[in-house]
Amino acid sequence: MTDGKTDGNTSGTADATTAAVRLGDGGPEVGVQGLGCMGMSFAYGPSDAEESRATLERALELGVTLYDTADAYGSGENEKFLAPFFKAHRDEVVIATKFALSIPADDPTRRVIRNDAPYIRQCVEASLKRLDVEAIDLYYMHRRDENVPIEESVGTMAELVREGKVKHLGLSEVTGGELRAAQAVHPIAAVQSEWSLFSRDIEAGVVPAARELGVALVPYSPLGRGFLTGSFTDAAKDLTADDFRRQQPRFTGDNAAANAALLEPVRQVAEAHGASPGQVALAWVQQQARVHDLPVVPIPGTRRRTRVEENVAATRIVLTDDELALLEPIAAKVAGDRYADMRFTSAGRE
Ligand SMILES: NC(=O)c1ccc[n+]([C@@H]2O[C@H](COP(=O)([O-])OP(=O)(O)OC[C@H]3O[C@@H](n4cnc5c(N)ncnc54)[C@H](OP(=O)(O)O)[C@@H]3O)[C@@H](O)[C@H]2O)c1
Repeated sequence: MTDGKTDGNTSGTADATTAAVRLGDGGPEVGVQGLGCMGMSFAYGPSDAEESRATLERALELGVTLYDTADAYGSGENEKFLAPFFKAHRDEVVIATKFALSIPADDPTRRVIRNDAPYIRQCVEASLKRLDVEAIDLYYMHRRDENVPIEESVGTMAELVREGKVKHLGLSEVTGGELRAAQAVHPIAAVQSEWSLFSRDIEAGVVPAARELGVALVPYSPLGRGFLTGSFTDAAKDLTADDFRRQQPRFTGDNAAANAALLEPVRQVAEAHGASPGQVALAWVQQQARVHDLPVVPIPGTRRRTRVEENVAATRIVLTDDELALLEPIAAKVAGDRYADMRFTSAGRE
C-alpha cells in the first residue's frame, strides 16, 4: 500500500493515529476515521460479541475516537453493548447516537419516524440510561418526520444542550434546505448521510450547504455496506435471511450482477497501490474533503480487528487526479436505489 500522507481533510495531514478533524465550527475533535458500530448488534446477520469488543479496543489503539450508534440499532441493544467500552474509555471517545427512528419488533421491515418534543425527550433519557453516561457527545436526528417543522425539533435538541444532556447536535439524511433551517436555530456539528463511490446524491445539495455553513460530513456506509470490498456479490445468495441488505434494490439479482462489474476500476486502482478495493473506496470518501473543501470523517462499520486495521490504513492512501477521474463515472452507472423507499433519504425529498 502507498505509504503517503492523506490530504483528505482540511484540518489534518496524517493517518487516524495522529490527525484530528473538528466537526463543525464548535464541534468535537475526532480522528479522521470513525467506527460504525451498528453491525455489532443489528442489520448485518450474526455477530461474535467477543470479537466486536476486541474490534472496539483495536480501533481506539489505532486512533479512532468517533463511535457511531443509534437507539434504533437492535432497539437499544447496540447502545447497551457499547456502554462498558465507553465507560472504560470515557475521556478518549466521542459518543455519537441518534433518535427519531424505531423499528417495531413485530414488523422489522417497518420504520416509524418521530421528531416531536415529547418523543425526543423520552429518547434522550433512554439513550443516556442505556449508554450509562452523563451526556451524549453528538446527538443526531436520525430521520426527518415532515409533520414537525425542523426548527421546532432542533429547538428541542438545543434545549438538551443547554440542560447538559447533549454536547453537540447532528442531523442524518437531511436536505440542504433542512440543514440551513436547522443551523439558523442552533449550530450543527455534522451531517451524517450515505456517501460512497456508489452513493453520491448528497453532492447536489447537502454537501454545498454543509461547506457553506461550516458543518462536517460524516459519511455512513462508505464501503457501500460491504459491496465495494467484494465481500458479497448478491445479498439474496450470499447473506443470511435476516440481513437488511436483502431489502436494498441494488444488492440483489440483475442489479447486483451489473453493479459487481462496476468494481473493475476500483480493483485496478487498488492494485496500483498494493491495497484492497475497500481501502480505495475509503480513500475516495476521505479525499472528498479536499475535493469539496469541508471536513469529512467516514464511519466504516466492522466487527473484526483485521478489518479495522485494514480500514484505518486506508487513511494513508492518496489517490491521484487520474485515479479519481477513473473512479468518477461509477456512481452514475449503479443499478438500483440505495433504499427500497427513497423517501427515507434526503435525495427522496430534494
Ligand atoms: N444514519 C444512518 O441512517 C445510517 C445508515 C446506515 C449505517 N449508519 C452507520 O454507519 C456505519 C457504517 O455503515 P455500514 O455498516 O452500513 O456500511 P459500510 O461501512 O459501508 O460497510 C460495512 C460492511 O462492510 C464489511 N466490512 C467492513 N470492513 C471491511 C473490510 N475491510 N473488508 C471486507 N468487508 C468489510 C462489514 O462486515 P463486518 O462487520 O463483518 O466486518 C459490513 O458488512 C454503521 O455501522 C452505522 O453506525 C448510519
